[in-house]
Amino acid sequence: MALKADLVIKGGQVVTAAHSTCPVRGKDMQKLDVLEGAWVACSGVEITAVGPEEAVRSQVEITDQTQVIEAAGRVITPGLIDAHTHLIFGGSREDEFYLRARGADYMEIMAAGGGILSSVRATRAASLDELVEAGRQRLRWMLRMGVTTVECKSGYGLDLETELKQLEAVRILQSEQPVELVPTFLGAHAWPPEFQEDQEGYVDFLVNVVLPAVKEQGVAEYVDVFTEKGVFSVEQSRRIFQKASELGFALRVHADEMYALGGAELAAEFGMASADHLLMVTEQGIKALADSGVVPILLPGTAFSLRKPYAPARMLLEAGLPLALATDFNPGSCPTANLVLVMSLACLYMAVTPEEAFNAVTINAAHSLNRCKRLGSLEPGKQADLVIFAVDDYRKIPYYVGVNLVEKVVKAGRLVVSN
Ligand code: NIG
Ligand code: FE
Repeated sequence: MALKADLVIKGGQVVTAAHSTCPVRGKDMQKLDVLEGAWVACSGVEITAVGPEEAVRSQVEITDQTQVIEAAGRVITPGLIDAHTHLIFGGSREDEFYLRARGADYMEIMAAGGGILSSVRATRAASLDELVEAGRQRLRWMLRMGVTTVECKSGYGLDLETELKQLEAVRILQSEQPVELVPTFLGAHAWPPEFQEDQEGYVDFLVNVVLPAVKEQGVAEYVDVFTEKGVFSVEQSRRIFQKASELGFALRVHADEMYALGGAELAAEFGMASADHLLMVTEQGIKALADSGVVPILLPGTAFSLRKPYAPARMLLEAGLPLALATDFNPGSCPTANLVLVMSLACLYMAVTPEEAFNAVTINAAHSLNRCKRLGSLEPGKQADLVIFAVDDYRKIPYYVGVNLVEKVVKAGRLVVSN
């Protein structure tokens, strides 16, 4: 007896992004596995069949109870995965937008006590409910733009209580809305006001007090550090990562964003899940990454917002690295939550092809979050996370820059957006 289908999507152009390996690299980045006029069947939270109508009908039973979505002339893709965001913060920084628009430098604003520290003040002042409400709103934006999984960093507390409050907001949001959240502890995001004159003291505090507490509470999967000139040195970062890895956390790093400090090399040394930003990565850094399993996550929305040079995506791709793309959504350096816009920027400014861009926000992003077995492609056995776009060719999705073409979103087998 065939499995009953709870949901059938009658496509459409189905971008499965299915590959024989995960992550995807090299020439495989150009392949997307696109099926024309295909159907997708789901049972419970899973995809149970993908392919031509007859093949799907032979594999699952379609009954009166099966929910049917007509998607002829539409594109169906895996749910998009944003593997680098700073989702939870109090306040906002539109005042700095004026300064940056007139040419003020991001790091100068930060050194003058604005930037991240201004969000730290607002986040410390916010109640847990306020943080949850702000996060809820932002996740709604993301979901309506086709994003079904979001990595969320702390890092606007820089004290034990507020860092835990941010991670608690993520935990609450996970329990009440459909987007899957991946929590990351980023206590090493800036020097807190209390430790401006005692940087080693803050590293000690993170290592001896905060990391063990975050572990104990079980509220983060990953630990990240802003390894940057004037922020956390390679040596200070290494101490934090060493402790985090002893405690069993997987690692990610803000690497070589403004200055080639050696973040990429550090990511390779620890075999991190990802090295993010990489605007200034050196050839040596790329070589180190190429010999490791680290996923380079590029964030062209940040280069765009800060008017900085874009990361060398082609060099990374040519070195055989499994490129991923993410928004870096945050109140300062990149206040966009639009992952499809990021794909357009990658195509226009980093010579990434639409096929590479799709692989970068699906299967490779899933791999960087250790969710490749369950998320990131449309294949039987995987979770039914998918997006229906109101165009007939996937290449039109990054091409219509900044237009939200999302018509419907299915998360874990359930229709959650119908625009
Ligand atoms: O990824 N680089 C450091 N952190 C963020 C910016 C955070 C902020 O400005 O609030 C980033 O760009
Ligand atoms: Fe970031």
